[in-house]
Amino acid sequence: MANKEKKDAQENKLFQTIISHAKEYGFVFPSSEIYDGLQAVYDYGQNGVQLKNNLKQVWWKAMTQLNENIVGIDAAIFMHPTVWKASGHVDGFNDPMIDNKDSKKRYRVDHLIERHAEKMIAEGKKTEAEVLLQKMDDLLAKEDFKTLYELIVSEKIACEISSTVNWTEVRQFNLMFSTEIGSVSDESNKIYLRPETAQGIFVNFLNVQKTGRMKIPFGIAQIGKAFRNEIVARQFIFRMREFEQMEMQYFVRPGEEMITYNDWKEKRMKFLQAIGLPAQKLRFHNHTKLAHYANAALDIEYEFPFGFKELEGIHSRTDFDLKNHQEYSKTKQIYFDEEVQDKEKQRYIPYVVETSIGADRLFLAILCNAYTETEGVDAKGETKTRIFLKLHPAIAPIKVAVFPLVRNSGLPEKAREVFEMLRYDFDAMYEERGAIGKNYTRMDMIGTPFCITVDHQTLEDQTVTIRYRDTTEQERVLISDLPKIIGEAVSLRKVWEKLG
Ligand code: GAP
Repeated sequence: MANKEKKDAQENKLFQTIISHAKEYGFVFPSSEIYDGLQAVYDYGQNGVQLKNNLKQVWWKAMTQLNENIVGIDAAIFMHPTVWKASGHVDGFNDPMIDNKDSKKRYRVDHLIERHAEKMIAEGKKTEAEVLLQKMDDLLAKEDFKTLYELIVSEKIACEISSTVNWTEVRQFNLMFSTEIGSVSDESNKIYLRPETAQGIFVNFLNVQKTGRMKIPFGIAQIGKAFRNEIVARQFIFRMREFEQMEMQYFVRPGEEMITYNDWKEKRMKFLQAIGLPAQKLRFHNHTKLAHYANAALDIEYEFPFGFKELEGIHSRTDFDLKNHQEYSKTKQIYFDEEVQDKEKQRYIPYVVETSIGADRLFLAILCNAYTETEGVDAKGETKTRIFLKLHPAIAPIKVAVFPLVRNSGLPEKAREVFEMLRYDFDAMYEERGAIGKNYTRMDMIGTPFCITVDHQTLEDQTVTIRYRDTTEQERVLISDLPKIIGEAVSLRKVWEKLG
């Protein structure tokens, strides 16, 4: 096997292992699994929802608590249909698609060609592949779908299922889901499920600015569901049809957007590292092809087991959105800036810098990064693989688990007492079934940083054993010291300090 194929196979194996782990330990389940699932839709289980909530909370606090000039909102998923006309999504949120007439499989044109180019590179035809990709980029930019179709056919790019080049023409496919509002099902009642949360922020810009007496620069943050009818939905929760976004729009004076853009670029990179993603697995990727609304854009990419891929987008969106909402709604979106001396420049539509990250995609990056396999020697001297999730304690689903050593001699009662003391401040669990060793293993699998065992000595001197997940080391500590030990480790202050 060639080196690249070998590496791909290993990465694929690791990814499959992580997906199985996520299901087996209650993190992520396929949606409606008993009905064979629904493609690209997933449910979060008992540990997954905790981890995801913790990620959302840490993001929310980093935005709204650490920045005095950022406030949050929670806008509805359904919005007036004209919002999506103004935002450009009705006309522009399309992917060019092509169908194979034999297999009936639909492909995103750029993905189809890119995969073909990858094969060419593997066959040693790097230059030809680059020429092909360049042609594709040019044709996509010009929206010349007829020539794009001809390119696919002339390059003999075949369907991976039917192996034929029997293609339909290239067609644009809108990614928004629609439904009807009210009881009459006709075109005038058509509304969309929002494909991004950002528009809920734009249409509330003046509401928040006025009621919050916000002065530019200021930001509005939001966490919420978004929906996209993704055609090529692969790679587990990386690309979903229903997902959650954590977006923040920062409103600035026209002309000051690039300073803000560069500032947020650095801040967001720091945040991702502070919650545990290693610097060497993160990188910036500048966009050369800009979305219709942007004058600068980049992705922060994370190295998933299947390669470096977009985790977060930072976009300088100019005044595109507010200007269009002003035009379509006939409602002025003007900010009066008292601090500007020049009278002519006091009234303006603000420019916007956006940071946008998928909560699910961040969850996946965190999970992939936390999954750890280490070789160790057990009590019998046998070499064993130990698996654990090395999650930052602040985001771990369960912070502390309490076990009695045996189920008699008053130990369960004492262990419950310890559990009761901890549960109001920390996500804690109590377990008296099963052997301690097995309970430790189970807690490792879900990333619990601390396990507490209550034994006979506890009854005599009020001490317990605390076992640390990452090192498996154990030490005896006073019960009364537990809140401090756990509290310091799970405190968000540690995360904030890294943000500087
Ligand atoms: N408001 C800007 C915007 O929506 P985007 O690059 O399309 O920009 C931002 O999306 C982020 O949302 C992405 O970086 C990714 O983390 C997440 N995201 C986008 N589509 C997704 C999908 N289908 N499944 C999961 N996450 C997605």
